[in-house]
Amino acid sequence: MSICKVDPAEHSTLAIAPPQVPPTIAVIFGATGDLTHRKIVPAFYHLAKNGLLPDDFAIIGFARRPKSDDEFRQDLEKALLEFSHTKPVDMEIWKKLAAHIYYFQGELDDPAAYQKLAEKLKAIPEAAKIGENYLFYLATAPNYFGEAAKNLKAAGLSSHAGTRHRLIVEKPFGEDLASARELNATLQSAFEERDIFRIDHYLGKETVQNLIYFRFANSIYEPLWNRIYIDHVQITVAEQVGVESRGGYYDEAGASRDMLQNHLFQLFTLTAMEAPASLDAESIRDEKVKVLRSIPTPSLESLAKNVVRAQYGGGFIGGKAIPAYRQEEKVAHDSQTETFVAARFEIDNWRWHGVPFYLRTGKALAAQFTEINIIFKQPPSVLFAAGAESGASRMQANSLRIRIQPNEGIGLSFNVKVPAKAEAEPVDMDFLYKSAQFDHYLPEAYERLLVDALVGESTLFTRSDEVEQAWRLVDSLHELWKKQTVKNLPLYACGSMGPVESDQLLERSGRAWIVPPELKK
Ligand code: BG6
Repeated sequence: MSICKVDPAEHSTLAIAPPQVPPTIAVIFGATGDLTHRKIVPAFYHLAKNGLLPDDFAIIGFARRPKSDDEFRQDLEKALLEFSHTKPVDMEIWKKLAAHIYYFQGELDDPAAYQKLAEKLKAIPEAAKIGENYLFYLATAPNYFGEAAKNLKAAGLSSHAGTRHRLIVEKPFGEDLASARELNATLQSAFEERDIFRIDHYLGKETVQNLIYFRFANSIYEPLWNRIYIDHVQITVAEQVGVESRGGYYDEAGASRDMLQNHLFQLFTLTAMEAPASLDAESIRDEKVKVLRSIPTPSLESLAKNVVRAQYGGGFIGGKAIPAYRQEEKVAHDSQTETFVAARFEIDNWRWHGVPFYLRTGKALAAQFTEINIIFKQPPSVLFAAGAESGASRMQANSLRIRIQPNEGIGLSFNVKVPAKAEAEPVDMDFLYKSAQFDHYLPEAYERLLVDALVGESTLFTRSDEVEQAWRLVDSLHELWKKQTVKNLPLYACGSMGPVESDQLLERSGRAWIVPPELKK
């Protein structure tokens, strides 16, 4: 029985040629958790809906609680109806997929459970046709990642010659360089590096992938993309939500581990990297790692000047009350965890020497948006000397806004003459994805990432050396913070754009954060 629907009218591609997913049994560890419900199962459903799953496909959910296959399927159906990003859910497709979903009860730290799983993998009806092609998805708490990999190996389920066993690992990948190295070593002792897929869901976003197209499929920007023409770069991932129910995890992680080490560094390296030799996974990942390697570990002295951290106090955002971070559920009352971080980095290479990259991210901020702003150098002021009369005081440097979300698009700001006045004023030239003539279905990040892992395409996953380089830099921030005897972190008001120190970080060199369109009066 087919679990795919290939309706040419509805069929959408994730790539120019739809990838051929091989027959596979996917095992989701942490199958009753939030991630499975919100992201993974809706993603599998959409792959089935878009004809991207092969006929021979099955999913096994591995979790601790006792449950029958039918109960598990019902739970997933409920979650799908709530979290599917397309509505209504096509129940015919779901039922077909659900018939190939099974439940397996086991403890993640029990080696015997993996032995039984190995038997189950061979016993399900689809096994005869699929053979030993497994995708193991670790959607569990991070402390189980290493153990699960070891147990899979002991049960003969790790990757070895003649099989196609792949492993997806969720974030966070380690909590510092030492733990990330240890985890890399453990995973690599069970799976080949090419079979390990470390998820950073930002790489699954269409507009993040577009960074490569925008930079290398156009010739007009590349000559300007360097220290001669660019004054500085700003990367912002701003969230309006607080930590909500994730206080337990977040209080250990903070913004630096939760966002900076991964999502912001992905945007940073894709913006700064050199053109890869080709679009294959290793060429692209080599260039991203080179960017990180070109950032020397900052001294504590320079970090003290170039890094800002803060925590949100309570308040209202859009009429919704947000408690102060320390009042959030499962957060320590005297927590010193940062919910906002801003930092200035410099890449010491030929292209970028002397160009600051300002990165910031925070929760409970004034608006929800992710963007990259490239600020070009000011033109020489010989013609439009500063002064109210010429209007030069209103003149801004040209800038390019790459909008990752929402209102995905690209905008260029440049100066024009104000009609009937001897004045210049900045105007915007905007491209908006939603107003372009693209009639393609826009997949969610997890759909794209799942397909790529299923076909063994690693470009959109983080390589071990990339993870380690990112930790090297984030560790240096933590080293500084450990040494600082701060009693209380600076607080910022909910619904602001962070603490005043974040503005000062740029003001010191005569710069300012670019105001996003939603905050312009
Ligand atoms: C996750 C973080 O990785 O990314 C969350 O753990 C954060 O704290 C989320 O809210 C943001 O992702 P997105 O896709 O909503 O920008």
